[in-house]
Amino acid sequence: MPQKIILDVDTGTDDAVALMVAALSPDIDLIGATTVNGNTLVHFCTENTLRVFDYIGVQIPVFEGMSLPLSRPDFERDEDSSSIHGDLLDLPPATSQKQAQHAVDWLIETYLASAGDIILVPVGPLTNVAAAIRKAPQILEKIPEIVIMGGAHHLGNVTPLAEFNIWCDPEAARIVMNCGRPIRMVPLDATHRALVSRADCVEFRRIGTPATIATAVVVERRIGAYDAGQPMARLGAAPVHDALAVCAIIDPGVITTELIHVDVEVQGPLTDGVTVCDFRRGRGKAPNTHFAVDADEAKFVAMLKDILGRTA
Ligand code: RIB
Ligand code: CA
Repeated sequence: MPQKIILDVDTGTDDAVALMVAALSPDIDLIGATTVNGNTLVHFCTENTLRVFDYIGVQIPVFEGMSLPLSRPDFERDEDSSSIHGDLLDLPPATSQKQAQHAVDWLIETYLASAGDIILVPVGPLTNVAAAIRKAPQILEKIPEIVIMGGAHHLGNVTPLAEFNIWCDPEAARIVMNCGRPIRMVPLDATHRALVSRADCVEFRRIGTPATIATAVVVERRIGAYDAGQPMARLGAAPVHDALAVCAIIDPGVITTELIHVDVEVQGPLTDGVTVCDFRRGRGKAPNTHFAVDADEAKFVAMLKDILGRTA
């Protein structure tokens, strides 16, 4: 049976690939997507999500969510966001419409009515998820697992130690990390070890499905931005963070995890949004997260080519 998931996205170029993987994989039943402020304004995230689904020919409901972090009304995104993502994806304007219901209310309604079999997959700031937990904590018993793209141990991206999704809304991230439900975290420590290259984009274009063509478009943009502003271990390649989180649900072996305790710093000019990872053995608080410390790049890229080589 395909695994039911909800993707919470701030679409975004890598969110776009995650959405296509989830929509096209026979192992996933993507029952809906919720959008949140992050890479760009939430209404652009919504338009981009609709563009992706229209482009690959699937009809999956999209619900728009929070436009600002829980308690940071003065939020300003970092300059990398515009180079890596921009406001609107380079895909045709959406023809489908978002749903009328607010994302947080739909999350609550959906989980309360569920059989407890829907994995929640936030790959943007955790504002929607935290707002839903705060408004209706009884949904927690219905969430079997939360698979988060976010966090960092050895290196950040927005600051030396903080990763963007957590840094955008640290208060929300702290609520989610301490919610008591099973958590798998796919941080930069893993995503930076699973890069997609220009040669892979040539292969995506050769495959020639709507999803592989769209993936080539967004990944080539990412590679240009990363080479210019955030060079990885090798030039001409970039991480596709959010898609790795979805692939980890399809094949858990694509990442390597350690069970540790993770919490979030919510203050400090140098530490705001840092995920504090406790790798000490037998000391500190009880573990709460399966934290990915590595990834299998070859397996990840092969999964992308296989899954995105499908048509709806
Ligand atoms: O730090 C990477 C994460 O921040 C990804 O989810 C990207 O889409 C942005 O949201
Ligand atoms: Ca994202």
